[in-house]
Amino acid sequence: MDSLLIKGGVPLHGDVTVSGAKNAVLPILAATLLTPEKCVIRRVPDLTDVHFMAEILASLGAQVKVDGDTVTVQARKVRPVGNYELIRKMRGSICILGPLMGRMREASVSLPGGCVIGTRPIDLHLKGMKSLGASVEIEGGYVNLKARRLIGADVFLGGRAGPTVLGTANLMMAAVLAEGVTTIESAACEPEVVDLAFFLSKMGAKIVGVGSPTITITGVKELHGVEHEVIPDRIEAATFAIAAAVTDGEVTIHGARPDHMHAVLDKLQEAGVKIERKGLTMTVSRGRRLKPVDVTTLPYSGFPTDVQAQMMALMALIPGLSIITERIFESRFMHVAELARLGADISIEGPSAIVKGGRPLSGAPVMASDLRASAALVVAGMAASGKTLVNRIYHLDRGYEKIDQKLRGLGARVQRIEQP
Ligand code: EPU
Repeated sequence: MDSLLIKGGVPLHGDVTVSGAKNAVLPILAATLLTPEKCVIRRVPDLTDVHFMAEILASLGAQVKVDGDTVTVQARKVRPVGNYELIRKMRGSICILGPLMGRMREASVSLPGGCVIGTRPIDLHLKGMKSLGASVEIEGGYVNLKARRLIGADVFLGGRAGPTVLGTANLMMAAVLAEGVTTIESAACEPEVVDLAFFLSKMGAKIVGVGSPTITITGVKELHGVEHEVIPDRIEAATFAIAAAVTDGEVTIHGARPDHMHAVLDKLQEAGVKIERKGLTMTVSRGRRLKPVDVTTLPYSGFPTDVQAQMMALMALIPGLSIITERIFESRFMHVAELARLGADISIEGPSAIVKGGRPLSGAPVMASDLRASAALVVAGMAASGKTLVNRIYHLDRGYEKIDQKLRGLGARVQRIEQP
């Protein structure tokens, strides 16, 4: 397994361009199963999660062609049974459920297990499908869904932690080919859900209200092939912004959508980070004095849980007490113990992490536990003195396109150590 060797203390300077959003492209790729016609998706990031999704589509019978950052999918015929091992590898693969139900009225997928950031159930996904008339049974690790007809319904999709992103995506993708009208209440408002709805609408779906908690979908008989460019990755952009701040550098981030990042940009500015916006470009530098801040993760347009770990790395460097409260995933604090190896003083109390910031960080070998935790360790490693070895960076490759190359382009002393 590859690791990343970071020589810290080097301020990042220069320009970086944001890639397409992982969490938008995964459901959009799944949505190509809804039509036998050809779909062309552009600005697709080169990520292992995207490769997994391409393999899953191929295993379901689709033809998938990758040409640089353009992926062409044509699903003339579809098998409704997902490959157990492939699906198990990636939680995001659950988003084939909706398209399979929409197109085939049948789906068998392996149950996505728990993962290090929490139990991650799929009860809300199943509730959505049942509301449209599907029967659900669990057998041999598979969840099997079947419906003679899919009929539009009013569905309240709110859960313990609020709306569900992929649950909303799945219900939308099934409802576009159902009979009649489906209304999703407490729908997720994330930009990635909006991008998916935009893609579906181009295919011929009738969707209104997307981006708000009430989405209304009027089913159509068939959808057709389209071309689409995926939105930029707001989490990647936020990670680079934080990296610029922690290293006391100045980085210009191109091709982002600052309008998708209000909560993060606002919090960074409250902490004293300087952000100059010009259209789709943001220049980020540390500013004169950083101040402690409190952050609570929330569904969009609140502060994203996917930036919580990286924000914690910044907090560790700000003198004073910062508090971060995680409201989306119950165990998303695996990075705390690893940040402590670098010298951070962080304690966990229930859903909150109390960060006593301002202690100097020094390099150490650390272990990446999940995607965003890995990003936080890389960010912290770049701010620490000496060398940090981030082990198990395959997590990073799942969600950050060519991260080591991009960081080196900004002057970071980062080296990938490949292990056979
Ligand atoms: N939940 C349920 N029941 C369900 C589904 C979700 O209780 O059936 C709960 C979850 O346990 C969690 C909350 O609802 O407490 C929100 O989870 P959500 O369903 O919104 O998460 P997701 O759709 O599985 C996506 C992203 C995650 C991101 C979350 C929240 C993709 C592929 N994944 O997951 O991204 O953290 O939304 O914004 O879109 C990442 O990129 O690192 C990542 C984990």
